[in-house]
Amino acid sequence: MRMIKNLAIASALALSIPATAQKFEGLAMTPPMGWNSWNTFACDINETVVKETADLFIKLGLKDAGYEYIVIDDGWMEMERDPETLLLVPNKQKFPNGIKTVADYVHSKGLKFGIYNCAGTKTCGGYPGTRGYEYHDARQYAQWGVDFLKFDWCYTGSGNGGFNYQQDAPASYTLMRDAIYAAGRPMIFNICEWGDNKPWLWGANVGHMWRISGDIGHCWDCEMSFGTWSKFGLWPIINMHKDIRKYSGPGHWNDFDMLEVGNGFSPTENRTHFVMWCMLASPLMLGNDIRKMDEPTRQLVTNKEVIAIDQDKLGIQGFRFMNLDGFDIWVKPLDNNEWAFAFVNMTEQKRHLSYDWAKYYCKDGLVDREIQWGKQTFALRDLLAHKDAGDTSKPLDRDIEAHDVVVFRLKAK
Ligand code: GAL
Repeated sequence: MRMIKNLAIASALALSIPATAQKFEGLAMTPPMGWNSWNTFACDINETVVKETADLFIKLGLKDAGYEYIVIDDGWMEMERDPETLLLVPNKQKFPNGIKTVADYVHSKGLKFGIYNCAGTKTCGGYPGTRGYEYHDARQYAQWGVDFLKFDWCYTGSGNGGFNYQQDAPASYTLMRDAIYAAGRPMIFNICEWGDNKPWLWGANVGHMWRISGDIGHCWDCEMSFGTWSKFGLWPIINMHKDIRKYSGPGHWNDFDMLEVGNGFSPTENRTHFVMWCMLASPLMLGNDIRKMDEPTRQLVTNKEVIAIDQDKLGIQGFRFMNLDGFDIWVKPLDNNEWAFAFVNMTEQKRHLSYDWAKYYCKDGLVDREIQWGKQTFALRDLLAHKDAGDTSKPLDRDIEAHDVVVFRLKAK
């Protein structure tokens, strides 16, 4: 009898304890936008670069276009934790005034601040990782005013740092999620295990975005091998996982990696890269040196009409509709029954695109939306040119340079 009573009390208690284990909701209802230091600076990042980048976010119209998070990637720490407190120590040369000063500066510009660490015993750059210190580090980040944590996956194997087991990805990221929640400061949680453990299957309740691939490199279609790891060009990343668009959406995004726009691509490839990331509803984290950005690149990454495709509130990842005569055609359903269509010249030569809209019935089975060309005509807006471009009653005729793109917003007339 007493046992039954105790059980009843225990279960009543369990029910009354609030569920604390969750991620902060509502932080990424559209794909997060910002800048991350890694693609240009690798571990060679410092306070001056971060502050100058924050200044230029305002001056160059990046903040106005929607970019918000300034994220310091790997390389910001000393090689060891503080032996007394076991806290992470900002590198004294790179961040002589500590991290909070930098975060405060970023906040003073009306922007948000992000930082990097790793679920393993070390970061990929060999700095102290978080394994075993999750609650400790999360509390530290909250005190510094961190709004975004990118959490990597190096040194997670057995034997690392005396741990004799291989870390489990869902468990490791969930543990850090809980630590962030307990620390009490809302942070976007960027899962970065390169797609190895299919984060799209378990990530929605854990983080706000998850990398789907290994690192991006600035090439169109190559894979660069570095022995144990590889970098991937644009199309290998885009094509890597076929059926994951259904897992991406408001609050939890497939992350196609930081942008390489402005990092050595031709102007045509810069355009295609940027437009494709928008068609895919990927987070838009600039990865170039903002201080050296040329004017065409600035115009491209602040093109609000293209960004609006990425930031569409339905958050539907676009899909490859077809490949026609050397053109890859991508479609993204948008709010308000509108659509985006992008045509990419995949060939090595300038090519003529002649596209008869009405000839190709278009349906997105994922969201059960179709276009009935016979019943509806759509006005076309050329988003890169910022021009109205007729409507879908007539075929589209365009010359398109090699590796270039045209992208339209379709609105029913
Ligand atoms: C990689 C990650 C990169 C960058 C780098 C830092 O694992 O994919 O985006 O963060 O580590 O060492």
